[in-house]
Amino acid sequence: MPVTKWLLLVGAVILTAGLLFGYDQGVISGALVGIEKSFSVSTFMVEIITSWVTLGALVGALVAGVLSDKIGRKSAVLLAAVLFAFGALVEALAPGAWVLVAGRLIVGFGVGVASVAAPLYASEMAPTRVRGRFVSGYQFGITFGIFLAYLIDELLSSGERWRLMLGISAVPAVLLVAFILPSSDTPRWFLTKGRRADARAALARIRPDDTDAAMEELEASVDDEAEQASWAVVFSRTWRRPLTIGIGLAVFQQVTGINAIIYYANKIFAAAGFITPQGQTAATTWAIGAVNVLATLIAVAFVDKLGRKPLLRAGLVGMALSLTVVAICFWFINKSSPSTTGGPTDAGLITLVALVVYIASFAFSLGPVVWTVINEIFPRSIRGRGVSIATAANWGSAWLVSQFFLSLVSTIGESGTFLLFAALSVVAFIWVSKALPETRGRSLEDIEQMWLDEPGALKAQHPH
Ligand code: BGC
Repeated sequence: MPVTKWLLLVGAVILTAGLLFGYDQGVISGALVGIEKSFSVSTFMVEIITSWVTLGALVGALVAGVLSDKIGRKSAVLLAAVLFAFGALVEALAPGAWVLVAGRLIVGFGVGVASVAAPLYASEMAPTRVRGRFVSGYQFGITFGIFLAYLIDELLSSGERWRLMLGISAVPAVLLVAFILPSSDTPRWFLTKGRRADARAALARIRPDDTDAAMEELEASVDDEAEQASWAVVFSRTWRRPLTIGIGLAVFQQVTGINAIIYYANKIFAAAGFITPQGQTAATTWAIGAVNVLATLIAVAFVDKLGRKPLLRAGLVGMALSLTVVAICFWFINKSSPSTTGGPTDAGLITLVALVVYIASFAFSLGPVVWTVINEIFPRSIRGRGVSIATAANWGSAWLVSQFFLSLVSTIGESGTFLLFAALSVVAFIWVSKALPETRGRSLEDIEQMWLDEPGALKAQHPH
């Protein structure tokens, strides 16, 4: 297979894996109304149906590191896709609420495994100069999946059609199986398993012009440590820096509010004066869903040119400012009497614009760049487990925010909640400026060496 076709196949894998993740994030808001009617469930059950997919994903992400080190990146993606398709069918055919919850857990587990294995696969397959672009392709898939879910929710918004909304997610899962089957595992994974010939064959497909040099580079980074390191090594002082950076980025991506807005956009627009459900869904689909997709393309274009850090810092400034504007608007909205004309108030419209700025700022920075960096900073010997911990931290914080956003709003109000997200964006900005090294244009082997060259790490590696 020629190199471009080969890279397209890897691109298709990463895009579809993102699509699965995103569709699943976005679909539930629209499906809930129908589910509540079909099963007449309590609020508690509604919360379980909504959030247990995230819990399933947390467990999936934790298992996925060891799994993708043991059975390989390719087999882990395959397993995730099969589980996901099965879970989607269980959801669609569920005779009662608990079977639906079981389906949600299976789907969540599949998404969790895929969210570790697929970007890992992409980052190890991609040539260095376009690695950021490859992993940003994953985020593009996520945003496109969210947008599709919003659209399909709108189209199928009546009766028992929630079954179709959930069942449709089996389609990208089947596509993922189709794309991953003809591909091979990554050269790095083959080498850790001592399968030198397979590693070389895989490398020849990615770098046909300088396969020998690439093989030498790869082998140098593998040295004599054929087996993957243990959990103790993952948490050792030597790798503390990449671990802290991975977890820090994962947590900041969530605690700055993205999924509060993705999940509860309709409610936020309702509070901002968009009275009709049609007005709310249209605002959500286009102002949030479509802008999210489009702004991700900025990152795809610039992440390997400008670097990870400038994008993150610019995005965080945009997020902090727009969240502050939203907080101020809500302060006015809550003070004034509700709109009687049926349309949004001025403050409501400014909220809409500020949320567009927020989504766009997230989409060209934290969205794609966090996944890119998480998948490139860990040394090969702990990459699977390191990515797995950071991804699980991301799912854990996503669960926290989505579970408690509404309670937070009723305790400290909308203004207070958005100000909190704004303050956390400022903290994230300071931390990124201080703690994050630039990884653009460096090979994965280079990045590994960078950690070892730090004084603290060397001391830890060679204690007296
Ligand atoms: C995050 C998701 C979020 C999505 C929004 C991703 O990078 O991990 O939690 O829903 O971006 O586009």
